[in-house]
Amino acid sequence: MKKITKTFPGVVALKNVDFDLYEGEVHALLGENGAGKSTLIKIISGVHKPDSGEMIINGKKTLFSNPTEAIKEGIATIHQELNLFEELTVFENIFVGNIEKFTFSKFKMLKFAERLLNELGFPIRAEEKIKNLNTSEKQLVSIAKALSLNAKIIIMDEPTAAITEHETIRLFEIIKDLKKKGISIIFISHRLEEVFEIADRVTVLRDGVLIGTGKIEEFSKEKLIKMMVGRKIEEMYPKFNVITNKEIFRIENLMVGNYVRDVSFNVNRGEIFGIAGLVGSGKLEIALGIYGYLRSKWEKLVLDGKNYLPSKNMLKYGIALVPEDRKQMGLVLDLDVMKNIILPNVDEVTKFGKISWKKSKMIVQEEVEKYAVKVSSIKQKVKTLSGGNQQKVVLSKVLRKRPKIIFLVEPTRGIDVGAKVEVYNIVNRLANEGVGVVFISSELPEIVSLCDRVLVMHRGRSMGILEKDEINQENILKLATGVDI
Ligand SMILES: Nc1ncnc2c1ncn2[C@@H]1O[C@H](COP(=O)(O)OP(=O)(O)OP(=O)(O)O)[C@@H](O)[C@H]1O
Ligand SMILES: [Mg+2]
Repeated sequence: MKKITKTFPGVVALKNVDFDLYEGEVHALLGENGAGKSTLIKIISGVHKPDSGEMIINGKKTLFSNPTEAIKEGIATIHQELNLFEELTVFENIFVGNIEKFTFSKFKMLKFAERLLNELGFPIRAEEKIKNLNTSEKQLVSIAKALSLNAKIIIMDEPTAAITEHETIRLFEIIKDLKKKGISIIFISHRLEEVFEIADRVTVLRDGVLIGTGKIEEFSKEKLIKMMVGRKIEEMYPKFNVITNKEIFRIENLMVGNYVRDVSFNVNRGEIFGIAGLVGSGKLEIALGIYGYLRSKWEKLVLDGKNYLPSKNMLKYGIALVPEDRKQMGLVLDLDVMKNIILPNVDEVTKFGKISWKKSKMIVQEEVEKYAVKVSSIKQKVKTLSGGNQQKVVLSKVLRKRPKIIFLVEPTRGIDVGAKVEVYNIVNRLANEGVGVVFISSELPEIVSLCDRVLVMHRGRSMGILEKDEINQENILKLATGVDI
């Protein structure tokens, strides 16, 4: 790609960007949220047309006017926002848009898909409807779909953001096989450890501009971060909350479906309370259960000194949740930023049954500035925002309600280093404003650096709560794997 420029109303997403890809290499594309990574690969895959610049494939000048043309030329793409048809089955999804094989009979398609999933080692039923799968399984279906196309170039936009460690290991084995066959891969990820494990070369973008390209050996983690954020991260994990001994929240003997057994804990004002545990340990379900997304019961729930009965409308009572799957539970992707923020706060702008859009605009403008959400206007659709900016929209709409306790579930998943620091700052600030913060995460470094106490889950049960000097990665891992310390 030579001198690619692409603008959207109000944003220059790419400015004169050069990018090259060799045969049989894994080329990592890095950059903060909003750097232009997805836009670049959408140009390669025929979703967007550049304003200017050219693309050359095997010596031939090419630009695709739609995704089908790109697929025909051997370019398969796993998009960041999974483009699957919820009402169709797994095997039907694998075949949608697959020109080469769509003339197969239904039976043949099913068999083909079953064999493919089996070869890849993905434990998914080909006849299952997409809507019955979880995010991780959907991601695997998208990967399988891309691999079924026999492409020469496979583009993976954050394929690991939603899958487990085990599945990531499997994906990397698959990538290594593809390389041996001479297939080229563009790999986007915010996890630098992964990049160092799998990439041959890297290209870094920042604010739509090419910052550098080179062999992975030429870079260190620190250097890449510096290139991505354009400043040195002095403080990756800011911590300035002041704990009090005044309790804001307590739950006793919480049970959530088959996921959580008999868990009790309390949170004090100003405290950042961590919950750690492996995938499937029940750590996420604690929040989902308390909030009412999953069937749950408890013996006692005390909020700011008052006993509360279980209820559906938790946010109204002061219990907030920022879910892991912000695209499904947190945001209405087709609505604009303003409507997403106003939705749970509509009381605030309604008078005599009429919504004041003027007031809405003012409030949302204020929120967008407060959380430094990068938008061209508050009328921008949420689905066109980068991951980190979507997360900030979720936080601002929930925090506007002034909750007493907030459950943050994997709040930094899929967002870049710069946005992570901003989230940590928000967490500290919240705690100091007297909100009890429950920080649920799979990333141990942030749990260890940020939290005042850490409850560790193992197979649905609490293995204990670590305090102060006891909080380190080793202790957490021991408890998380069922070993007492
Ligand atoms: N369809 C669109 N309409 C308007 N603006 C857009 C659109 N797509 C992207 N943008 C803007 O272009 C810029 C680059 O976005 P892009 O999605 O390429 O970032 P990214 O590097 O993939 O970020 P992330 O890591 O969060 O996925 C952002 O400012 C984004 O808001
Ligand atoms: Mg992206």
